[in-house]
Amino acid sequence: AYLQKQDDYELMANISRFYQQQLKVATDKDVAINYLKGRGLSGEICKRFGIGYISDSWDGVMKNFGGTASTNQQLIDLGMAIEGDKNRPYDRFRGRIMFPISDKRGRVIGFGGRVINDGTPKYLNSPETRIYHKGQELYGLYEAKQANKNLQRLVVVEGYMDVVALAQHGVDYAVASLGTATTPEQLQTLFRTVKEVICCYDGDRAGREAAWRAMDNALPLIQDGYSLKFVFLPDGEDPDSLIRQKGQQAFEQIIDEATPLSQFIFDHLLAQVNLQTAEGKGALIESFQPYLTKLPASTLKDSILTQLANHFGHSNEQQLAKLTKSFANQSATKPK
Ligand code: UTP
Ligand code: MN
Ligand code: MN
Ligand code: MN
Ligand code: MN
Repeated sequence: AYLQKQDDYELMANISRFYQQQLKVATDKDVAINYLKGRGLSGEICKRFGIGYISDSWDGVMKNFGGTASTNQQLIDLGMAIEGDKNRPYDRFRGRIMFPISDKRGRVIGFGGRVINDGTPKYLNSPETRIYHKGQELYGLYEAKQANKNLQRLVVVEGYMDVVALAQHGVDYAVASLGTATTPEQLQTLFRTVKEVICCYDGDRAGREAAWRAMDNALPLIQDGYSLKFVFLPDGEDPDSLIRQKGQQAFEQIIDEATPLSQFIFDHLLAQVNLQTAEGKGALIESFQPYLTKLPASTLKDSILTQLANHFGHSNEQQLAKLTKSFANQSATKPK
């Protein structure tokens, strides 16, 4: 037991080392090692991501890092232990493969834990704590920066396993938004890091909806020189399953051919109206309104407006001028 209270970050780093060590010494370590091998991960890649293991017990972390009122409380505060009855906290993570989540400086701030084989929840995550703010962090960003001195683009995926499997196959520039839809804060971080972001969510309904929300959240950030693109995977696939089947080259080709934001918007909104009717034309303009007003003035915005005007059959200068005016970025034209 630790009697002296440690710095939060130091404690989290030590717990992460403990989980990694368990992958080597736990009595049931073979279950974990075989699981990771079965998912195609090498020892080297597990090490790069600090992947570890904790056996199914109530006090793996408590026994090693708790013991006094103050260390117990700290473990509870950091989401590593759950306050039990009669002041007997117990481990939050039990019987799971452990993925440490680092902040952009590489400090461990939380964990995701996957059950081995079946069980619910499939992933258990650290709660919000004083050092872990879910919507602001991107899993794998630190590792991607470490692997690439000169990052040009980032692929955003849904899950821990997607990030790690992509790195295993040489695509070492993926990050995960940690289950939630990619938040405005996460998109801000992404576009502060690179100019090109490619969203590659799972090929299911949830993944497609996440893409649309990410697009909406990113619009205010898309200035000239910046781009957001989308990959739509076949139903039932995710980046992990795809790269394992097809390999790095095929996956990177899919990334290279990702759908640009403008095309995504047009495809989606055009599908909802009938342009043969006046009502349909009105509805199309109406449906673009909330998106285009969020987009700052740029070449991209101009070309979307031109394209939109062209959908009315006659490329009409007046129509274009009207659209441009009504879709002016509201934050830019806010009256004093
Ligand atoms: P998925 O259900 O797509 O899982 O959730 P996955 O990443 O493909 O996992 P594997 O391949 O079955 O191991 C995507 C992400 O959503 C979050 C996790 O971050 C997960 O990686 N999630 C999912 C949870 O937080 N809890 C869950 O129970 C499930
Ligand atoms: Mn804080
Ligand atoms: Mn999914
Ligand atoms: Mn998935
Ligand atoms: Mn998966």
